[in-house]
Amino acid sequence: MNTVVIGLQWGDEGKGKIIDYLAEEADVIVRFQGGNNAGHTVVIDNRKFVFHLIPSGILRKGKVCVIGNGVVIDPKILLEEINFLKKQGVSISPQNLKISFFAHVIMPYHKLMDYFREEKRIQKIGTTKRGIGPSYADKFSRCGVRMVDLIVPKIFSLKLKDNLREKNLIFKNVYGRRGFSFKKIFDEYIYYAKMLKPYCCDTLEFFHKHRRLNFLFEGAQGAFLDIDYGTYPFVTSSHTISSNAVLGSGALMLKIDRVIGVTKAYTTRVGEGPFPTEVRGKISEYFRSKGKEFGATTHRARRCGWLDLVMLKEAVKINNVTDIVLTKLDILDELEEIKVCIGYRNKIKPYLFSHLAKVSPLYKNIKGWNASTSHIRNYNDLPFLAKKYILFIEKFLRKKISFISVGELRNAVISK
Ligand code: GDP
Ligand code: IMO
Ligand code: MG
Repeated sequence: MNTVVIGLQWGDEGKGKIIDYLAEEADVIVRFQGGNNAGHTVVIDNRKFVFHLIPSGILRKGKVCVIGNGVVIDPKILLEEINFLKKQGVSISPQNLKISFFAHVIMPYHKLMDYFREEKRIQKIGTTKRGIGPSYADKFSRCGVRMVDLIVPKIFSLKLKDNLREKNLIFKNVYGRRGFSFKKIFDEYIYYAKMLKPYCCDTLEFFHKHRRLNFLFEGAQGAFLDIDYGTYPFVTSSHTISSNAVLGSGALMLKIDRVIGVTKAYTTRVGEGPFPTEVRGKISEYFRSKGKEFGATTHRARRCGWLDLVMLKEAVKINNVTDIVLTKLDILDELEEIKVCIGYRNKIKPYLFSHLAKVSPLYKNIKGWNASTSHIRNYNDLPFLAKKYILFIEKFLRKKISFISVGELRNAVISK
């Protein structure tokens, strides 16, 4: 069984937790896009792990994790993540962590460029400033450095020299900053190359050889942060949707059996851009404090709002979703009344951002259940009104909600 897990909103839907949960029945867990803009949280007992680059299945013993060609890698962050996990007693070796030769490297100038571009923009995106956009831009401009280039000093030296010729001019003339020293970057990155080389491989060959195993693809970000189908320009720089899973990993020969779309029981967004069901004031504070809605990567306060079923329906379509996972149901436990958006007054397609910014949502009010759900593990034990909320979503989306998550812990999942 090959499964893709993707976010149906603007990221942070709880994908990390669901990947960890589903990884038990998978053999190989794969990241196929994004970089360390992602922050995927897994909580086991009282230990919290936040993954930025390594697939969230790494905590399950006997699994192989792959970082595919569609990912952009900050080697310093990846090494820190490997070392942190090793210190926590998680075994990591070239046997269970594979990095694609073709993944692109985030260089120091990408990070600074991300920062300076944002500073100069009138219409800010609110990026994570991790160098994601500039690194993907270089990939498509064909001047990027791939892992396979980084690990061969002669090639890396050539590519770095070529890049600095152009980048240093841009930094001086556009941003009024000092250029970069070749030697400093070269020495630092050659060290990363030495440390990461044993993990680098041809993932295409890996997938071909192991094509009969069970694969679990871990999406990062969410449907409306997709570079084409998201709320452009307030998006990330990769394809976050399910159809990128095989392309961004090298698993070109695999058939996808199941696409699991993860959505919160409400909505959050980090950074700028339209958000029709955003709320302010008391309700927003309630979501933020009870749901601990602060970014796992940048620690920024997440914007909060009601569940938007119009957008979810679109996300289900874009991603070919077969099953839905509803997370953070427990966060709604204390609300007297819950709103869900079931339409927009001006009937505009949700991803057309300029219109989306102005749309006025039509809500259905649903009575809250006013009881704790975080200890519940069987669907039938959920309060009647909570089941009504779930059934309403299923009916609107015409999709099955297969799992409901009611807490951050690994076992706080209800299979429906
Ligand atoms: P991801 O980027 O989609 O993996 O999500 P994040 O890890 O950035 O954010 C999700 C947050 O919600 C994390 O802090 C999780 O520990 C937490 N979480 C996930 N599922 C649940 C749930 O069902 N209930 C509660 N209370 N917290 C959850
Ligand atoms: P996970 O995988 C939430 C947002 C940023 C910004 C926009 C572009 O944890 O769900 P970028 O740095 O990618 O160029 O920023 O995308 N963003 C995320 N928001 N969760 C994420 O990842 C995100 N990754 C990027 O806040 O609005
Ligand atoms: Mg996150």
